[in-house]
Amino acid sequence: MNKNIVLLPGDGIGREIMDSAKIVLETIAEQYGHQFSFAEHAIGGDAFDRYGSPLPQETLQACQNTDAILLGSVGGHKWDSLPKHQRPEQGLLGIRKSLGLFANLRPIKGFQPLLHASPLKESVINGSDILIIRELTGGLYFGKPSERRDNDNVVVDTLYYERYEIERIVEQAFQSAQLRNKKLTSVDKANVLESSRMWREIVDEKSKEYPDVTVEHLLVDAVAMKLITEPKNFDVIVTENLFGDILSDEASVLTGSLGMLPSASLSEGVGLYEPVHGSAPDIAGKGIANPMGMILSAAMMLKYSFQLKEESEAIEAAVNTCLEQGYHTADLSITEGTQVGTKDITDIVVQNLKQLKTT
Ligand code: NAD
Ligand code: IPM
Ligand code: MN
Repeated sequence: MNKNIVLLPGDGIGREIMDSAKIVLETIAEQYGHQFSFAEHAIGGDAFDRYGSPLPQETLQACQNTDAILLGSVGGHKWDSLPKHQRPEQGLLGIRKSLGLFANLRPIKGFQPLLHASPLKESVINGSDILIIRELTGGLYFGKPSERRDNDNVVVDTLYYERYEIERIVEQAFQSAQLRNKKLTSVDKANVLESSRMWREIVDEKSKEYPDVTVEHLLVDAVAMKLITEPKNFDVIVTENLFGDILSDEASVLTGSLGMLPSASLSEGVGLYEPVHGSAPDIAGKGIANPMGMILSAAMMLKYSFQLKEESEAIEAAVNTCLEQGYHTADLSITEGTQVGTKDITDIVVQNLKQLKTT
């Protein structure tokens, strides 16, 4: 298989973890007889520094004309006081919106060797397997107006959804639930927000088309609690943009570290794959970032964009073996095993991939 992949390393640890994903993909290509051509482009603060925009036209064009996109992370203190349209985060939001990537899939499945790495009790998290489906191109993130008024005495952000935007993400969630354990939890704030009441109505309407899926409606504040007290209650969670952002970082605690979580942002067109975490300015440049979320995002790319299921599962297995062997990065609070840096843990995943193919 011949595929073109755009790499957007971005800021902070983005470059370090992107190097890891690239090496892993090169190994897969070599082992399974594929040809992946990589083209690197600028995004975020790095793009602002070099081209004056967090999402240069040339980057967007490259993303529109490729088979899949891998993104590291954007943002950092250096750019925090820039005007809104120049902030690194606008590069990320801009690419999601321009490519219409409305469905953000964030799987949260603890690797067995890391069950004891979570601050939560092993008995609470063992067996939990959740897919958060976050609406990614609407809600408070994109609603207009979003501005200051009256000499900074008033501020407004707008939570705006059109019916079709809710319908399509809810459909995606039902379909995903059908392929999993057939339970869908829709998360909202219907006791307060009109948008949530409409969201709930749409979920109920759509549920008639998916009678095999059990539907539960929960309020977001209660879910924030239940995610870490009874994570096994959940199979697929569907929710609006901001709730999904917050709940997915929280859910990462089940896996031992935010650095473990991958994601896929999908539409009918080209898919974008990125870890859930950010640019981690506190550890950037130290060579200690956990590359697993990024590597597992590359695995999601193989599965969702290229239908390379075997290759995708090989990466997951190689990661699991690496953890079984006791290797881990510093973000995982484990005392036993061997703590290694980004490059070394990547090498171990690569060795495991090679081993898998020969056995
Ligand atoms: P963050 O996710 O960057 O970091 C939160 C904490 O988790 C930090 O202590 C960090 O060191 C740690 N961490 C995150 N990923 C890690 C990894 N792979 N390995 C080891 N440790 C890891 O969130 P933040 O500090 O709130 O935000 C920093 C910047 O990142 C901000 O500018 C924010 O806007 C941006 N951000 C970008 C994305 C993205 O590009 N997708 C996502 C979230 C935040
Ligand atoms: C994420 C990030 C982004 C978001 C930021 C950086 C704009 O937190 O991908 O989870 O809020 O969507
Ligand atoms: Mn986030």
